[in-house]
Amino acid sequence: MTRSSLDPEQSRPEKSDPEQSRPEAILEVRNIGKSYGSVRALQGVSAAVGPGEVLCVLGDNGAGKSTFIKILSGAHRHSEGTLLAFGVERRFEHPREALDLGIATVYQDLAVVPLMPVWRNFFLGSELSRGRGPLRRLDVAGMRSTTKHELARMGIDLRDVDQPIGTLSGGERQSVAIARAVHFGAKVVILDEPTSALGVKQAGVVLSYIARARDRGLGVVFITHNPHHAYPVGDRFLLLQRGTSVGDFAKSAITIDEMTALMAGGAELEALAHELERP
Ligand SMILES: Nc1ncnc2c1ncn2[C@@H]1O[C@H](COP(=O)(O)OP(=O)(O)OP(=O)(O)O)[C@@H](O)[C@H]1O
Ligand SMILES: [Mg+2]
Repeated sequence: MTRSSLDPEQSRPEKSDPEQSRPEAILEVRNIGKSYGSVRALQGVSAAVGPGEVLCVLGDNGAGKSTFIKILSGAHRHSEGTLLAFGVERRFEHPREALDLGIATVYQDLAVVPLMPVWRNFFLGSELSRGRGPLRRLDVAGMRSTTKHELARMGIDLRDVDQPIGTLSGGERQSVAIARAVHFGAKVVILDEPTSALGVKQAGVVLSYIARARDRGLGVVFITHNPHHAYPVGDRFLLLQRGTSVGDFAKSAITIDEMTALMAGGAELEALAHELERP
């Protein structure tokens, strides 16, 4: 990293204009803000994600990343600014409202039942059934084969959809959750730090499924601390710092070194970057 890339005055990359609206966006926020009582967790943040696009949200602890995705996913209501889904202004009262519009969120602590088979978890809460009235029962064969098919479509090669989901690796579990969101009609998936608890190799696996979802035309909002995870897969980068936006950059407007320096800066992060380098 060069000295100049650490100097924000000299080499600040060109941000996008937050006033410039994106008509094709699936999800867009303009000057969004959120206060928890007297704590201002987020203010003046603008960003958008379109179909087949990956928006990465980066920032250090307490930067406001979780607050940002809670607003997008309908878990928390924003206290300032505008949220648009498919060009229509929204104020979500409940995550169900966002989900019904195709805004699916995969939380890091995935709500799975570890001892249940993969296919049961895949259909959890949306089980298929066959027959009518007293003859109505779960369509086990249908759920099994659909799970298999959907995982294969995402390039996920599981030996056996009958194995308990708890026996999968963290990366595989995240991948199943992404495939599930795609199957149930998500137009945009929001991923809350899906790679943060993973080793380099497993993180790579999850990144490849993010790329698959993107290639299938979904918008992806990918939250991460790690510029090395964000950069290869991201189209746009929203950098947060202490609740405000440092900028929303197109990939062509920023290098990974500039991004790392803007996130916090200093020798500390440079050392970290070396540590995180792929083998
Ligand atoms: N429910 C809440 N009540 C009060 N303050 C909150 C609440 N949730 C978040 N905050 C504050 O808002 C700020 C942003 O928090 P947030 O969880 O969005 O950060 P983050 O970027 O997700 O951090 P991390 O990387 O640690 O998950 C923090 O200062 C936090 O203490
Ligand atoms: Mg968080």
